[in-house]
This record gives sequence, structure tokens and C-alpha cells, in this order.
Amino acid sequence: MINRPRRNRLTPRIRALVGETTIQPKNLVWPTFVQEGKSQRTPIVSMPGISRLSIDQLVADSKKAFDLGVAAVALFPAIDDSLKNPEGKESVNPDGLLQRAVKELKKEVPELVVITDVALDPYSSDGHDGLVQNGQILNDETLPLLAAMAVAQAKAGVDVVAPSDMMDGRIEAIRWALDEAGFENVLICSYCAKYASAFYGPFRDALESTPKEGDKKTYQMDPANTREAIREIHLDEEEGADWLLIKPGLPYLDVIRLTREHSELPIAAYHVSGEYAMLKAAAEKGWLDYESCLMESLLSMRRAGADMIFTYGAIEAASLLQQ
Ligand code: PBG
Repeated sequence: MINRPRRNRLTPRIRALVGETTIQPKNLVWPTFVQEGKSQRTPIVSMPGISRLSIDQLVADSKKAFDLGVAAVALFPAIDDSLKNPEGKESVNPDGLLQRAVKELKKEVPELVVITDVALDPYSSDGHDGLVQNGQILNDETLPLLAAMAVAQAKAGVDVVAPSDMMDGRIEAIRWALDEAGFENVLICSYCAKYASAFYGPFRDALESTPKEGDKKTYQMDPANTREAIREIHLDEEEGADWLLIKPGLPYLDVIRLTREHSELPIAAYHVSGEYAMLKAAAEKGWLDYESCLMESLLSMRRAGADMIFTYGAIEAASLLQQ
């Protein structure tokens, strides 16, 4: 036999020499949920191992992540119901929970990249990412609110704002507002192809942000489509996005690959709450090995073309990589 592909798999060192894809802690972003209080860690039942953290705990865990080489944290605030209203006004409060969390993190772990979410849902009494009127999600009326939210986050010192709302035209609106306020060095990570996915269920448990009525299908993308992902890629590039994010991750590897083929921008993949929950649940039953399946999932997203990966398993993965 002339061709024996197995020769390249003979030993761990040979396999390492011919390995095409790598994953390192510097490729990882740790998404985490912030809440009010002191010394508070509230476990999220549908996400074993993940808790909503008060700011002091967030700082402690972020230091741990940073020491393990994790590049960034992505923050999502759990806002008290009494502060929610249709316009999500709390999102621009300079002393609001998220703004305080950003300030503390930039003070205590200055080199860690801090990413914040731009969307109305954590602050909205309707639980939608945009303004709601008579059951419709208003696009253009939402844009100034998103832009003001991004500026409030920039004032708190954030490095990267990440609009996850999927309104049309929001990247441009946010870029203009940031520049006008003097924040031309704040990056925009655009949730470029974000699908209307049932895999976000555990995340909505964590923030109690499930829409009060209807679903998100008039703004998030149809899981059946890829051509419209290409359209979103081109629009977000023209509007000034610095990074393109694809979400969810594993069920949409083809979209990550397609984005790699259609853009030169850095690509982020989001290994979402439901993907994390599936691995943990199967592992709890003894049906899967969590650590191996986590690392294989992350490697698959890198292989598809992602530069960085948002994953709730970032700290676990980084410590496995250090062993
Ligand atoms: C909302 C937002 C969601 C996620 C990130 N930002 C949920 C949604 O769109 O309903 C999901 C993340 C996850 O499931 O891990 N703007």
C-alpha cells in the first residue's frame, strides 16, 4: 500500500506535528451574568456550574480567568423587575449595575478585555431586544436607544460593545454615536448572524428575560437560511463592525465557515447556553465525558473558522489547556 493515512496518527508527537487547528485560552471569551448584592452567587438551575454573580464575585472569578489566560469577559446584567420598563431606561443609568461592573473590572483587572451586550431585553418590561408597540418590534425607534446604551457602556470604560439585538442599521447608529462621544477606539463586535434559536432557553432563565409575548423571529434569523447570513455580513462590514459573531455555535458551523469565506474580519462563535446545558446534562447522567466534549466542540468551531469563542466553559477549558 502506498497511501497509509494512519502513519500520520502513529504517536501523540506525530499527531501534534500534523495537527491543523489549535485552541488556546487566548481564543476564549467567558460570558457571565451579573447581579446586585455582595458575596452573592445564585446558581442557574439549567446551567450547572454557572451562577449569577455579584460584582465582587465577578471580579474574583475574572481574575481567575485572566490568570488562566482567558482573553475577555462578556457581561450580561440581571436587572431587577422594578427597574424594567418598555424603553429599558435603566440601560443608560451611569450608576446602573452593568456600568458599575465594567468600572470595577477595568479597575481591578485592567488588561482583561471587557465586552458588554447591547440590546434592550435585560432592561425591557416586554423582554424583547427592541421597542414593542402593538405587538410589533419597532426598528428605527430602537436605534437611538441602542446607541445611547453603547455610549453609556463606553463611558464606564468598556473595551468592546456587542450589539445582540439584530435591528437593521444598528452598527452604523452605534458607530456614529460612539465616535461623536469621543469613543472612536471602542470596538464593535456585531452579532451578525444571530439565529432565532431554541438553544437560548437557559440564558433567558438566567436573566428572567423571556419575551412576555411572541417570539424573536421577526428580528433574529431563520435557522433555514444561509444566504441572508452573507447579506448580514456585508451590511455589518459596511456599517463599521470590527468583529462578526455567529450564534449559536455547533449547530451553525456551516455559517461560521461561510463567514470565513466572505469576510476578512475576525470571527467570533458563541457556544450558547443550550449547547453548554446539553453537555452538562448528559455528563451528569454519565452519558458523555464533559471535558472531552467541551474541548471537541470548541475545536470544531475553530476548525470552521472562528478566531474566538464565547463559551460558559471558558474557565474550565483554560484550566484543561494549562494542564
Ligand atoms: C439577548 C441575548 C441572548 C443571548 C445573548 N444575548 C438571548 C436572546 O436573544 O434571547 C443568548 C446567549 C446564550 O443562549 O447563551 N440579546
